[in-house]
Formats: sequence, C-alpha cells, structure tokens
Amino acid sequence: MKIRQVITGQTGLSRTDRVAALCYACNLTTEQVYSNLDAQIDDGDLAVLEACLKDRMSGKPLAYITGKREFFSETFMVNESVLIPRPETEILIEEALRQLNGRKGCAILDMGCGSGAIGAIMAKETGNRVTCVDISYEAVGVARKNAEAVGVGSLMEFVCSDLFEAFKPDIRFDMILANLPYVTHEEWKSLMTDVRDFEPRLALYGGEDGLDVYRRLTASMPGRLVPGGDILLEIGSGRQAEELKAVLEKTGLSIRVINDYAMRERVLAGHG
Ligand SMILES: C[S@@+](CC[C@H](N)C(=O)[O-])C[C@H]1O[C@@H](n2cnc3c(N)ncnc32)[C@H](O)[C@@H]1O
Repeated sequence: MKIRQVITGQTGLSRTDRVAALCYACNLTTEQVYSNLDAQIDDGDLAVLEACLKDRMSGKPLAYITGKREFFSETFMVNESVLIPRPETEILIEEALRQLNGRKGCAILDMGCGSGAIGAIMAKETGNRVTCVDISYEAVGVARKNAEAVGVGSLMEFVCSDLFEAFKPDIRFDMILANLPYVTHEEWKSLMTDVRDFEPRLALYGGEDGLDVYRRLTASMPGRLVPGGDILLEIGSGRQAEELKAVLEKTGLSIRVINDYAMRERVLAGHG
C-alpha cells in the first residue's frame, strides 16, 4: 500500500488522524509524509499502521496510541493513567511565569500533577524546585519519567498523596498550582466518548458542580502558602470561578479570573 492510499482512503477518520497515524507508524514527519505520497509502506510499518487506525476508530485518543503529547514545546509521555495535557493549561503556566517574574529560590507545588506537564515546565522555565503531587500512584510514576526526559529530574520531587494528607503541617510553598478535576455531573454525561471512555475519571470528574476536590483543596490550604505567595487554579465553566474566588478571598488572597482563548473563565490567579 502507498502513503497516498492511506491519506485518501475511506477509514471514517479525519485526514489529521490518518496523517498522524502514518507519521507514528512509519516514523516520518508530516512534511515527509506529504513529500513521499507514492512511497510504498513496508509490511512492518503497515501492521503498526493498521493497529493504530483500528485503535483510533474505536475512539482511543491519538496521544494514548502514540504514547506522547506535545505541551509547551516539550514532548510528554502519556498513558491511560494520566490526563492528556490540554493546550488551555498553557494559560495557567504563562500566568504563573508572569507572577513569578524571574524570582529564584521558590518552592513550587503542582497539585494533581498527572503527567507532570505543569511541574516540569515550571522547573525548566524557572530553575525553581517543584513538588509534584497526585493521588494516583501510576500518575506519579509517569510524572517522574517525564521530569527526567525534560531534563529537570534533579529539581523535582514526587509525592503520592490525597491533596496535602502526606505532608507535615509545617511544609509551605511560595506558589501553588493546581489543575484538579472540575468536570460537573452534567458535563460528564455529555463528554466526548474519546475523553469519557479513555481518560481517567479520577482526573476529570469533580462531582455534582465539579468542585468536590477544589473545595477540599481550599479547606486544607490555610498555612500551606507563604505570606505573599501565589496560587493558580485551572477551573471549568458555570459558577466555579465565582464560587472559588469567594472562598479564596475569605482567606485573604486577592483573586483575578483569567479567560481562555474561547473567552471562558479558565484560571483563578491569586496573590497573598
Ligand atoms: C485534570 S488532571 C490534571 C493533570 C495535569 N496536572 C495536567 O494539567 O495535565 C487532575 C489530576 O488530579 C489528580 N487528583 C484527583 N484527585 C486528587 C486528590 N485528591 N489529590 C491529589 N491529586 C488528585 C488526578 O489523579 C489527576 O492526575
């Protein structure tokens, strides 16, 4: 079979998916795929390609098939124990970098680290020490591998914990970042099957109004942020921004709401 036949074939998949599958199976870049349309795919690559297309047709996200996802110009290893990092999470990182403003010697926390994407980028971009926490033991293992791959393993620490449960009472951070589950019960029912059937429910589902885990986080936060410290939380739609802002402001933080590119409320940025 030729590359051209795969691209024009009727597989029920988008062209983007078919080209991505070709890149993965034949170890080619997108440019190489398009400049070799009449090349014959060898038997070994064809077997990988067919398995890849079959998985994709069952709804499996491409990132879980290829085992990787680009985020903030780095490649992160992913598997079905971690959420696939989303482009909107880059907004949280950009704001965190702005608030940090080049400060050194800070202790940063990535709560609900999943693949470790937020923590590893913060360590790489700032040189500060980052602690990654996740309730999932498997996720902590993936985050640790990613930190090594990004070249920041020596700046990072990994803890498997339900929020702050495993931390001594005197451990505090200069910056707390969190992208915890925030999908509401209603949203969960209508999520795309690619997401609902393949990504971990533990990473996504936040209860009736999506705020179950964030409420527990804010309740356990007093004393965890140094005076003058920063907090950045990725949130979902509805009344989440308003509700969490009110709770955090009661603890003395001043909070701003930052929208994503679709003009939806996406990040709460606070300063102590
Ligand atoms: C939305 S995912 C975010 C993953 C990653 N930070 C990212 O941005 O791609 C939420 C993560 O929070 C973790 N999590 C859920 N409940 C938690 C809890 N009680 N304590 C710590 N981590 C938790 C999940 O296992 C999951 O990895």
